[in-house]
Amino acid sequence: MKDDRVKFFDTTLRDGEQAPGYSMTLDEKVRMAKQLERLGVDAIEAGFAAASPGDFESVRQIANTVKGCAVCSLSRALRRDIDASAEAVGGAAHPRIHTFLATSDLHLKCKLRITRERALEQVREMVAYARRKCAEVEFSAEDATRTDPDFLCAVVEAAISSGASVVNLPDTVGYATPQEIAQMVGDVRRRVPNIDRAVISMHVHDDLGLAVANSLAGVLAGARQVECTVCGIGERAGNAALEEIVMGLRTRSDYYGLSHGIQTEEIGRTARLLSSVTGVKIFPSKAIVGANAFAHESGIHQHGVMNDARTYEIMTPASVGVKNTELVLGKHSGKHAFEERIKTLGYELDETRVDELFADFKALADRKKTILDRDLVALVESKMSARKHPEREWRLDTFVVNSGNHMSATAQVTLVRNGKARQEAALGSGPIYAAFRAVEKIIRRRFTLEDYRIEAVTERRDALGEVFVKISDKRGSYRGRGVSTDIIKGSILALLNAVNQMLEV
Ligand code: KIV
Ligand code: ZN
Repeated sequence: MKDDRVKFFDTTLRDGEQAPGYSMTLDEKVRMAKQLERLGVDAIEAGFAAASPGDFESVRQIANTVKGCAVCSLSRALRRDIDASAEAVGGAAHPRIHTFLATSDLHLKCKLRITRERALEQVREMVAYARRKCAEVEFSAEDATRTDPDFLCAVVEAAISSGASVVNLPDTVGYATPQEIAQMVGDVRRRVPNIDRAVISMHVHDDLGLAVANSLAGVLAGARQVECTVCGIGERAGNAALEEIVMGLRTRSDYYGLSHGIQTEEIGRTARLLSSVTGVKIFPSKAIVGANAFAHESGIHQHGVMNDARTYEIMTPASVGVKNTELVLGKHSGKHAFEERIKTLGYELDETRVDELFADFKALADRKKTILDRDLVALVESKMSARKHPEREWRLDTFVVNSGNHMSATAQVTLVRNGKARQEAALGSGPIYAAFRAVEKIIRRRFTLEDYRIEAVTERRDALGEVFVKISDKRGSYRGRGVSTDIIKGSILALLNAVNQMLEV
């Protein structure tokens, strides 16, 4: 066996971001990448540089920002893709080009329409080409688990002799069983003569719910890199969840006996950040990071945990950065306590933002007796969108809405921009619709409402409502978030957040 350290290759920003509902803006991707670096991943797949100018730019910016781990870009085994990747990761401290070609007969015949011989040639040519452009090259045999084992071994051998130092064996369609994965990795290790010159990597999808089990089976069989995403987001049913693999290795170190470089205490923060930038809530029963992962409802369990948490907890909440005691702030809390708490929650904000947020916090404390970490996170996240031109932003001044069961809803909204107020009134089938129409009239730009969601941040009647809005115009789509104890106000704030981004484009 090569060594006992399992490397974590995070593809949240590439395979994860491809999943519907998980697209991120450039700023959001950079924030996620910085957090992944803090989490201690060994490599970040920052995107697919050739896919679009936006993808190229995010790979480039992440490569220029993140210095603590490898930054990589995906490329088909084509010169133009490899060129784009090489250019985009050029500024990285540890650049990597990840190039792939499908190797199963199904993909060769029905998708690529090439023979095995041609595929083998393409692997040789393109890996060598990538290697001339970048010191570290990873090659993936797409659909490896449905590839003829003899051919897979030939491809892996060719990729390594052409310069790949990581060979990835993806279960692209989540088809394999753990036993088959172990067999495949074992075969490659036994039959590929130059395998000691490369690290074997597992990249597994979750179509049959086996992604984590299959990744761990690969590791047990000798793979030393796992490709995964935060919360397992990814194509179709998703990829293997990073937090589940690493906590499996950690909690069952007696069984696996393997090490890793992940700071597991950063897991909670990383999952929360993903949820807040994408607006997709973490499923309550999600292993490791779901709200219920450390909750004990039944009397027998509560009794056991009170006597000794190990009775029903196989890992501590603190080990994954989930606090079971939330610190409470209230209207008597000072700016220092507020600032400290924000820092502990992982935010580094400039003085102006802290002042603005502290004012919002005080206003909230007048309406809500206790302010929990979840409230603070929602408050901060609602203000995190990049502000390139604050002077051009529309801000809410006042609003009045009227609605009832025998009338159309009406809304009168006043917005201020650069010291000048503008007011409009509008009708709607409900108060939020009416308020949004009034905003549309004020800004004099049409948009389509693509998504609108509202959720209570905490329990109880005085809970903050967190509103998530997605709008689009001809040039793109824009997301906004707003929080308030008043859901109409929260909705207008979320809309303005999105509108201000739309107007910046
Ligand atoms: O699932 C897959 O096969 C992939 C490759 C491009 C690595 O995502
Ligand atoms: Zn994949």
